[in-house]
Amino acid sequence: MPVQAPSSSQKTTMSAAQFSRLQQIIFERSGIYFQDSKKDILESRLGHRLGELDMGSYDEYIMFITIGPYRDDEFQEMFNRITTNETSFFRNEPQLNYFEQEVLPVLLEAKSATKRLRIWSCACSSGEEPYTLAIQLHRSLGVRLADWHIEILGTDISEKMLKVGQTARYSSHALRSTADIVKSRYFNEVNGFFDLDPEIQSMVYFEKLNLKDRLSALRFGTFDVVFCRDVLIYFNDEMKQHCADLFERTLADDGYLFLGHSETLRGLKSPFEAISVPHTFCWRKMTATSTKNNGRA
Ligand SMILES: C[S@@+](CC[C@H](N)C(=O)[O-])C[C@H]1O[C@@H](n2cnc3c(N)ncnc32)[C@H](O)[C@@H]1O
Repeated sequence: MPVQAPSSSQKTTMSAAQFSRLQQIIFERSGIYFQDSKKDILESRLGHRLGELDMGSYDEYIMFITIGPYRDDEFQEMFNRITTNETSFFRNEPQLNYFEQEVLPVLLEAKSATKRLRIWSCACSSGEEPYTLAIQLHRSLGVRLADWHIEILGTDISEKMLKVGQTARYSSHALRSTADIVKSRYFNEVNGFFDLDPEIQSMVYFEKLNLKDRLSALRFGTFDVVFCRDVLIYFNDEMKQHCADLFERTLADDGYLFLGHSETLRGLKSPFEAISVPHTFCWRKMTATSTKNNGRA
């Protein structure tokens, strides 16, 4: 009787050894560490893919992703399935209010001679985070925006997510935390979707970047602010330290780093000090001057 490849509805079992190999491959390629307790999650996210590829075992898939001719493309495909891309406009309002009301005025004053400001949203998913920052800058600067050279870079490891960002068309779900007044000022509703104002789009550019790849990250130069929210939680301590070192290199002196609400740099070696204002999750790269001012914005 001929052996049949499993259909996408049939479940292929992942052995402990196969899980451990995939865990290692994913960590080496992305820095994401799937803990042992997450085996079932990985199995359920990849099971469907095996069905699509008519593969009968994870060994076959492991060969495909490590030595197959399409391994880089398949890694992207796998990555799209195993990562969490959850985001929205104006996500974590208290933190963004602090950025807009306390940090931005300090930075705009400090940069008033050059009128250049660079911001990096380093795991930006489908773009809502960098576009939110662009809206905040747009309304803070008003007509003065024309005199400024503002660059907001959004990077992510997922090409699929970056494409959504480049399209700048969002569902109402992406705007669930956005005030109606902002929605009507900065979005155009078309057939139930929301198209972002082209002026805001022009303030942001997107590039694919794996945070593991230090040299590629350094190509982008130095930033005044880095947003790195809700990605460190997927990394182990070694990769978190790698990111802290990267931000030390890429942030200007006295620059600001914003993390997600359940993320911290505590326990890592870094020149960053937490700003002691609740709900801001804001860290500052300390220099002699900022130490004197106690790190406050
Ligand atoms: C939960 S989303 C966070 C989105 C946004 N920063 C926010 O807080 O709303 C996490 C993002 O991290 C990205 N990511 C995971 N590992 C990465 C890596 N090694 N390099 C760059 N991006 C990565 C994922 O593709 C995903 O889009």
